[in-house]
Amino acid sequence: MKKGHRENTVGPWAAAKLDALEAYLKFYGTALSKQPFTRVYIDAFAGACVTKVRVNDAASEPSPFFDDLDDTTAQAEFILGSPVRALSVPNGFHQHYFFDLDETRAETLRDLVKGKDGVKVQVGDCNPLIRQLAPSLKKRNLRGIAFLDPYGAHLEWTTLEALADTGTMEVVINFPVAMAINRLITRSGDVPEKWSDQLTACFGTDEWRKVAYSRETDLFGNEVTTKNGGVAERLLDLYVRRLKELFAHVATPRLIRNTRKAPLYYLLWAGPNKLGLKGAEYILRQGEKVRA
Ligand SMILES: C[S@@+](CC[C@H](N)C(=O)[O-])C[C@H]1O[C@@H](n2cnc3c(N)ncnc32)[C@H](O)[C@@H]1O
Repeated sequence: MKKGHRENTVGPWAAAKLDALEAYLKFYGTALSKQPFTRVYIDAFAGACVTKVRVNDAASEPSPFFDDLDDTTAQAEFILGSPVRALSVPNGFHQHYFFDLDETRAETLRDLVKGKDGVKVQVGDCNPLIRQLAPSLKKRNLRGIAFLDPYGAHLEWTTLEALADTGTMEVVINFPVAMAINRLITRSGDVPEKWSDQLTACFGTDEWRKVAYSRETDLFGNEVTTKNGGVAERLLDLYVRRLKELFAHVATPRLIRNTRKAPLYYLLWAGPNKLGLKGAEYILRQGEKVRA
């Protein structure tokens, strides 16, 4: 794990993602406040409750999310993480599930929610945990949101399938394709097995290979593999196309860039109902949009 990951530091762009999430949670709470539904919130990659944001350190940001640089010289401010925002949103949720692989972060979360009803914190890989939970969310009187905010290609497609199958859950996904996922797609086409398995689990298909690479035969009859241009956008198209097969509605992706304007990740929304789509489109429109 990178130093920045352990120390909970993020670039200023993390606020854009969390502000969009919070705006959507507010919209959702207002929209459902008069309805008799039990409202459920899942934070699958819950993280630390508070994160340090580096500011005035544009010169030290080679990494899209967290970097390995010493940021002691940077002026720091703090932002509240997704669990804190979900817990304090007006007309919030009756049940909260927070998952994180990291024991220390889960411990911080446990401290935060001590004495609160309807909150479950679990340490572990969120993928099997969500798949286990999902059947119990298939209820007529229940509605919910799952915030899926991985660093890389850690969200498995089968987890999205399980959430879609509930018919009650919406998903807000941080899809870090522009940097973190793109990095697994090596220039040579020789992708280590561990990475290719992770990509296949993330996309739910090995079609990513066809999207990412072209194979041609050269003058000497040798097969040559080349990484295609615009891979991140092509992979986004593949992902969104597949999301549309799972969910009735998928919003236009919002691109989040770093302070140097380099693309980092896309914020995606998908869900079973049209009202959610309307809210998500409006909120995601506050940032930069790309074609779906
Ligand atoms: C991008 S951070 C989440 C940030 C958080 N949503 C926030 O708003 O502050 C990703 C988190 O996912 C956790 N993580 C990584 N892989 C995981 C997995 N398979 N299941 C659950 N948590 C995981 C990491 O420990 C880290 O805390």
